[in-house]
Amino acid sequence: MSVITIDGPSGAGKGTVCARLAAELNWHLLDSGALYRITGLAAERQSVALDDEPAVAQVAAQLDVTFEPGIDGVAVVLAGEEVTTTIRTEEVGSLASQVAALPAVRDALLQRQRDFAKAPGLIADGRDMGTVVFPQADIKVFLTASAEERAQRRFRQLTEKGINASLPALIEDIRARDERDSSRAVAPLKPAQDAVVIDSTSLSIDEVCDQVMALVHQAR
Ligand code: C5P
Repeated sequence: MSVITIDGPSGAGKGTVCARLAAELNWHLLDSGALYRITGLAAERQSVALDDEPAVAQVAAQLDVTFEPGIDGVAVVLAGEEVTTTIRTEEVGSLASQVAALPAVRDALLQRQRDFAKAPGLIADGRDMGTVVFPQADIKVFLTASAEERAQRRFRQLTEKGINASLPALIEDIRARDERDSSRAVAPLKPAQDAVVIDSTSLSIDEVCDQVMALVHQAR
């Protein structure tokens, strides 16, 4: 059974690349960010204070969540309710990054993440997949891009949806989030020692997928 980990900051293209690779190889997919988002949402719904670490860890340990194949990819169902689009909002993203900073929450989600590793293989998308969750992974990729390029991508996404956005403010936000994610005490965002770093600043999604597939073929 093989595991490919793809870590990196938000906006580097991990989500799209991982979904494509999982479809191409017909492997399982772990979107670990979704687990932190769902934990944040569940804690809020149960009125659990986000600074009450043991209580939030209990929410994480008892998550009643399923990932079901849907028309547009995977549907996320929390306690019987579909929350696929709800967990993608900026508000839930902020809850996610707060609960993700709690070591007991990370511990509570560790085994659940490892359980995704099933034959024939797993593509694991996150921040600490290669460093903490799957240190024995066969292939580790750290996918990054400049803050300006990631902000540009976000700017395009938002304006396509008709949402007003300011590019300088997005660049600021991304820089601040990078700083928070890389400097936190538990599972900071950093490439595993044995990771291949791919900078997607001037690459298309297809080019990134080709580079990862080349690593898969080399490893076979
Ligand atoms: O990748 P996504 O934006 O969905 O992740 C939401 C938040 O969850 C991130 O901002 C990050 O703080 C946290 N996260 C994490 N470790 C992971 C995946 C996500 O700390 N493996």
